[in-house]
Amino acid sequence: MESLTKPFRTLFKKSVALLPKKMQKKLFGYFWAMRSPDRVFLVKKILPLFAKNGGTMLWVGCERYTRTYSKLLEKNEGTCWTLELEADQARWGNPGRHVIGDLTKADQLFPTNEFDVVFCNGVFGWGINTAEGQREAFKAMAKIMKPGATLLLGWNTYRSEDPVALDLSSEWFEAGSVQGLQQKFQLGEHVYETLKKRD
Ligand SMILES: C[S@@+](CC[C@H](N)C(=O)[O-])C[C@H]1O[C@@H](n2cnc3c(N)ncnc32)[C@H](O)[C@@H]1O
Repeated sequence: MESLTKPFRTLFKKSVALLPKKMQKKLFGYFWAMRSPDRVFLVKKILPLFAKNGGTMLWVGCERYTRTYSKLLEKNEGTCWTLELEADQARWGNPGRHVIGDLTKADQLFPTNEFDVVFCNGVFGWGINTAEGQREAFKAMAKIMKPGATLLLGWNTYRSEDPVALDLSSEWFEAGSVQGLQQKFQLGEHVYETLKKRD
């Protein structure tokens, strides 16, 4: 059954990807976001793992379904800032710790060496789409991260090429490790990868 439905699901997703971005989000965004295996894994495993470690964190890209994440990450004395390009999505950010702006210019929005962790999930391919833009984002994130800090990167394989395999990050990042998490793994059509800012 799974083998029969998978090609149709992939074709469906690729067709939807051709629609204007706003229409995609309106029609399917919330439904997909809440039910996909990668999302369930993110909420049940990844976020609690990082919450346990605390520290200063930045969550990039705020949607209705991410509105609880910053508080979840702050459970053990962590501090979580949120960053989102669209002003009307600021309401899904962390109240009092939200910045409206472009991730590729994050170094103009936050102090240097500020963050222990940056979460950049679902932003490459959903706004920052070109290799040049993704490289700029890596550079800007590296500036605002402490040496040795962790970048949790996530992307959909049907929206973006693998930015690490394209060698867009290696100037500033190397493979990272977080206890309890594989360094790089794929769930359905979503890849998570942990990177470490070079010292
Ligand atoms: C598909 S959503 C993913 C949201 C969230 N990060 C998640 O994991 O579900 C992509 C979000 O990234 C935001 N975004 C796109 N380009 C951006 C940029 N250059 N800077 C900051 N946010 C951006 C979009 O406005 C949108 O809210």
